[in-house]
Amino acid sequence: MGFLCSLAFSIQFLLLFSSFLFTNCLTLNDSTTTHHHECYQHESNALFSFKQSFIISKYASYNPFSYPKTLSWNPSTDCCLWDGIECDELTGHVISIDLSSSQLYGSMDPNSTLFSLVHLQSLDLSDNDFNHSQIPAKIGELSQLRYLNLSHGNENTFSGEVPPQISQLSNLLSLDLRSYIEQLDFPFINRLHLKESTLRSLIQNSTRLEHLRLNFVTISSSLPHTLTNLTSLQMLSFRRCELYGEFPVRIFHLPNITVLNFGENQNLQGTLPASIGNLTNLAVLYLEDNSFHGEIPQSLFRLKNLEILSLSYNFFEGELALDMILKLKMLNGLDLSFNKLSLFSQNTDVNVTTLPPIQWLGLSECNLIGEVPTWMMNLTSLYHLDLSKNKLQGEIPYFLFTLENLTVLYLGGNMLEGQIELDLLAKLKKLTVLGFGGGNKLFFLEGKNTSNVTIPSQIQYLELSSCNLVHFPNFIQHLQELTDLFISNNSIKTIPSWIWNKTTLQRLEIFNNLLMGEISPLICNLQSLVHLDLSSNNLVGMIPSCLGSFSQSLRFLRLAGNKLIGSIPQTYSKRNALQFIDFSSNKLYGQLPRSLVNCRKLELLDVSHNHLNDSFPFWLQSLPKLKVISLRNNKFYGAIKCPSNCTFLKLHIIDLSQNDFSGNLSSEIIKNFKSMTLSNTSDPAHFKDDIYYLQHSLIDIDLFSFSMSNKGVVLNYHGVQYFDYMVAIDLSCNKIYGEIPDIMGSLNRLLVLNLSNNMFTGSIPSSLGKLSNLEVLDLSLNSLSGNIPQQLTGLTFLDFFNVSFNNLSGPIPENGQLSTFDDNSFKGNNDLCGIQLVKKCKDHSMLPLSTSDGNQDSESGPFFKSNWMVILIGYGGGLLVGLALGNAFAGDVFRLLKRIF
Ligand SMILES: *[C@@H]1O[C@H](CO)[C@@H](O)[C@H](O)[C@H]1NC(C)=O
Ligand SMILES: *[C@@H]1O[C@H](CO)[C@@H](O)[C@H](O)[C@H]1NC(C)=O
Ligand SMILES: *[C@@H]1O[C@H](CO)[C@@H](O)[C@H](O)[C@H]1NC(C)=O
Ligand SMILES: *[C@@H]1O[C@H](CO)[C@@H](O)[C@H](O)[C@H]1NC(C)=O
Ligand SMILES: *[C@@H]1O[C@H](CO)[C@@H](O)[C@H](O)[C@H]1NC(C)=O
Ligand SMILES: *[C@@H]1O[C@H](CO)[C@@H](O)[C@H](O)[C@H]1NC(C)=O
Ligand SMILES: *[C@@H]1O[C@H](CO)[C@@H](O)[C@H](O)[C@H]1NC(C)=O
Ligand SMILES: *[C@@H]1O[C@H](CO)[C@@H](O)[C@H](O)[C@H]1NC(C)=O
Repeated sequence: MGFLCSLAFSIQFLLLFSSFLFTNCLTLNDSTTTHHHECYQHESNALFSFKQSFIISKYASYNPFSYPKTLSWNPSTDCCLWDGIECDELTGHVISIDLSSSQLYGSMDPNSTLFSLVHLQSLDLSDNDFNHSQIPAKIGELSQLRYLNLSHGNENTFSGEVPPQISQLSNLLSLDLRSYIEQLDFPFINRLHLKESTLRSLIQNSTRLEHLRLNFVTISSSLPHTLTNLTSLQMLSFRRCELYGEFPVRIFHLPNITVLNFGENQNLQGTLPASIGNLTNLAVLYLEDNSFHGEIPQSLFRLKNLEILSLSYNFFEGELALDMILKLKMLNGLDLSFNKLSLFSQNTDVNVTTLPPIQWLGLSECNLIGEVPTWMMNLTSLYHLDLSKNKLQGEIPYFLFTLENLTVLYLGGNMLEGQIELDLLAKLKKLTVLGFGGGNKLFFLEGKNTSNVTIPSQIQYLELSSCNLVHFPNFIQHLQELTDLFISNNSIKTIPSWIWNKTTLQRLEIFNNLLMGEISPLICNLQSLVHLDLSSNNLVGMIPSCLGSFSQSLRFLRLAGNKLIGSIPQTYSKRNALQFIDFSSNKLYGQLPRSLVNCRKLELLDVSHNHLNDSFPFWLQSLPKLKVISLRNNKFYGAIKCPSNCTFLKLHIIDLSQNDFSGNLSSEIIKNFKSMTLSNTSDPAHFKDDIYYLQHSLIDIDLFSFSMSNKGVVLNYHGVQYFDYMVAIDLSCNKIYGEIPDIMGSLNRLLVLNLSNNMFTGSIPSSLGKLSNLEVLDLSLNSLSGNIPQQLTGLTFLDFFNVSFNNLSGPIPENGQLSTFDDNSFKGNNDLCGIQLVKKCKDHSMLPLSTSDGNQDSESGPFFKSNWMVILIGYGGGLLVGLALGNAFAGDVFRLLKRIF
């Protein structure tokens, strides 16, 4: 997503600076007579004291050409001649202030003298640093304003609520409160908020608006349909304003519209009407990362002025001939990635002499079939080409390696085949992102004499997974700026030692290779690492003890599926950034290090399938973000309890199965699984958190997986979906005894509850009937007695149910969901009767039948042989769709989540 956005942002940047043009073009006074006036003393004073309320700091402006205009202001000269000031030729009043990019730093005084300049028609304070102060309400007193620009490229500008008084500016033609910050990986926070009521009043009052730009101003409402009354509108920019609901289709009827930017609102819904083809002025259409649907109308390709078309991350569907885009003679950037489109190229009758000047082409996951269209060879301006995750076949065409301006070439996840030789890359001197892996059948050949080959040495992002590599390519050694290296799914046996000198590395993925030997402690030189994945190899020896503390930036640490021995690293520095730790499926022993409590950001801890020997780690409760704990298949022992009050605030998934836990299951601890309970006042803040998380971890979606097992049946959680809606408790295969606590029924967000293969006694609590979201309930292989509570018939989402092999008795409730399960769910309970079983209930009498269990036992477990993935995929009605889907479906999972929100 980063790539896709950076165009958006660089265009933002261009638009910003084109707004300076707009200012200059705005002729405020058309006078031909030149009565020259000296400026009024009180206006001069007002301006001068405004100047003095700020200091000059070159860090306050983002524009590289900024300079301090107010430095030259001198009270002894005519203020009408001051830099940035313009006076009315006739009246002599100050009518325009342009202090954009003037390196002003300081808080804005709510009573600033600025607001006494009531004749102002144009005010541009953009790109300065107002130190998070509020936009003063007195702005409403500048009633002559036609042009107001408070936008910024700096995080520290205005913040708080946009004052409602802004809607008194009924003469406004242009309002710009945008932020155009460029740092993508920075957790950007919208600082300004605009109330829906203020927006409505503004629309009602400022009927002449031509430009309205509010990118990154939180609005959190639907778009007022009255917006479409403003028929003079030319530019509407509402990127990431948290808008939702229906996009007013009449916006596409505004006759003079040239720029529509509604990207990254996520829950904005709508369709593109065929009439969009009438918007002859439309130059820029950003709708990416929303919930638009329907087909992309053919009429769109009539728009001769269209320069940017960005529709990625929506639900657009239908077939589309890719060659149509060649009709858009001005087209500069196109992104259709991550929809449900099916693209094809007829690749005929293309008049290559008039190809559009396309620079950006994003067509990831577009079901593009066939060969790479040959007309691409003439897109000589192309600098971003992403054709990943399509169905492209044949060899990688040679011509791609002649597109000299390419900085991004991403072809991963297709069905391309053949060889790629390193020297092919020699012409691509600007390449920074190169990706070939995943699904293709490519052989990457380095050639013998790499020292003679001029490779694009500024590559930062290199993806060569599944490229049939048996050695670590040597040329990587010469990539001085490498930050991301993905080289998984090859047959590499050793990591060369020079890799440990590549201190620029932020992501290193070598999973699923044949790596042997120990992990070099030199790995701890890589102090910029954010993401390290060495899982599924044959690594042996101990985990280097520095691994918990070598990098302040490390968030993702995955060493699963090796043969590592010894104890888990003991040291975790304070303020470390670890969010995911996965040491599962090794041969680690000893205790969980108590210093894990220093991992304040930890969200997932997976140490399953090792030989760890410890008591229940109640102390993990102090980690405020911990969502997933898996201790499955170790030697944990003792009771599952806390010594005193403890709250696992965010815990969604706890898997303690296949250990030696014993004792009673205490009500206390269950009660403290707070986030497994859906309170009526479900906090929207938490929701936003998740949405935020989702966006920023998009790249992790493919990479992360987590699994829980149900006696050999593995539930796989790929990507982030487990984070945001999977709620599960698995205590199976332990020696827990006593009753199932009644309070279990209060964990009403639970989707999976597995208590099977323990020594639970007593009856099934009827409170479980309150777990209205439950999809999996397994109580089999215990010593539960009594009836199956009638209340369980209300569990309408139940997809898997098993109470077999207990001492249950009485009739199986006949109505509701339970009647959909067959004998496998109930057998092995001598006194249970029902239509599912050989033993029928005759008028509620419970006569045992002689042919009871014998032959059922021999078939025990067809459930367990069946594949959970299939079961879950087959279940079309509920949330579990997509649960077990693999990488190929990551996009779907993303959409699924968006739907849930
Ligand atoms: C602004 O000025 C008014 C009176 O002129 C005064 O009442 C008010 O307190 C001032 N506000 C601030 C924040 O200085
Ligand atoms: C609309 O503008 C007028 C004149 O500036 C002002 O008096 C009125 O309060 C404004 N209305 C709203 C709802 O802000
Ligand atoms: C604005 O549009 C609404 C409907 O969208 C309409 O009811 C209203 O009369 C319009 N107002 C003006 C001033 O045109
Ligand atoms: C649209 O633009 C044209 C040309 O600039 C102008 O004449 C016309 O008045 C505009 N239409 C509206 C509704 O503002
Ligand atoms: C837009 O174009 C369609 C044809 O595509 C035409 O039928 C319709 O009248 C036009 N609408 C407007 C508002 O001009
Ligand atoms: C291709 O376009 C050029 C320029 O518009 C035109 O002169 C030429 O005739 C076109 N060729 C064909 C085959 O249409
Ligand atoms: C298209 O590219 C090919 C190969 O580089 C070249 O031979 C041809 O002349 C180009 N056509 C145009 C119109 O530039
Ligand atoms: C490649 O980029 C350079 C610099 O941006 C530009 O001057 C040149 O025209 C581009 N080449 C092509 C073929 O567009």
